Amino acid sequence: MTSILDNLNTNSSSSQRIRSFVRREGRMTSAQQRALTEHWKRFGIETGAVLLDLEKLFGRRAPCVLEIGFGDGESLAAIAATHLDLNYLGIEVHRPGIGHLLLRVAELQLTNLRIMCADATEVLEKQLPDECLERIQIFFPDPWPKMRHRKRRFIQPQQVSLLIRKLKPLGQLHIATDCEDYALSMLDIFNANPDLVNNMIGNGFAPRPTWRLMTKFEQRGLRLGHTIRDLLFTRCSPY
Ligand SMILES: C[S@@+](CC[C@H](N)C(=O)[O-])C[C@H]1O[C@@H](n2cnc3c(N)ncnc32)[C@H](O)[C@@H]1O
Repeated sequence: MTSILDNLNTNSSSSQRIRSFVRREGRMTSAQQRALTEHWKRFGIETGAVLLDLEKLFGRRAPCVLEIGFGDGESLAAIAATHLDLNYLGIEVHRPGIGHLLLRVAELQLTNLRIMCADATEVLEKQLPDECLERIQIFFPDPWPKMRHRKRRFIQPQQVSLLIRKLKPLGQLHIATDCEDYALSMLDIFNANPDLVNNMIGNGFAPRPTWRLMTKFEQRGLRLGHTIRDLLFTRCSPY
């Protein structure tokens, strides 16, 4: 098992993988550091090779939503606070963001949110059972706009089948981005996948769902004059 203090060890066997993130520790405030010390035990899930038992981890059976790359977690905490009937699992690699979210979870006394400090691809591959998620949401994934960096984008055709496998039949995949080129490439990848159906007639982008709250990166995108795109797809039912 790997603890939050030493995870994302670059000596691990999967260190050859092209990562969708650059580990930048940034400044951790003393409140965030304290939140890690005080609340990680309660809300954090350690990484490793063990398949997760979501029912046991949340202490109840409820549909589970996975958010990948929650940043500072403000919007994830607010969404979880207004949908107490759902369980939320957030995965992020940026520890100050995790500290920030832990503070919010404790303040709001949320019982339906758990956090992992890990590369989401590894969690999907090794720790999440197939067909366990009601929805996967990824808001403003790192755009990697330079051509030579595009291989780092989280959404790649081979990654999509992994995401789909973790969704329940009729589960939802929801992505928002302010990077037009990334949005178009994801639209093509998802529309071409026989296991996904675009929720929009005409196979285009979706209107912004009312429950999706403004994130820090969305605000930045809007300030820069970018168009925000939502992509909403459903996993086909094999039954
Ligand atoms: C552009 S930021 C967006 C943050 C937040 N969703 C928002 O909209 O403000 C992308 C985030 O995804 C995280 N990230 C990128 N690749 C990841 C991965 N493979 N696993 C977990 N988190 C990842 C980064 O650390 C970063 O915080």
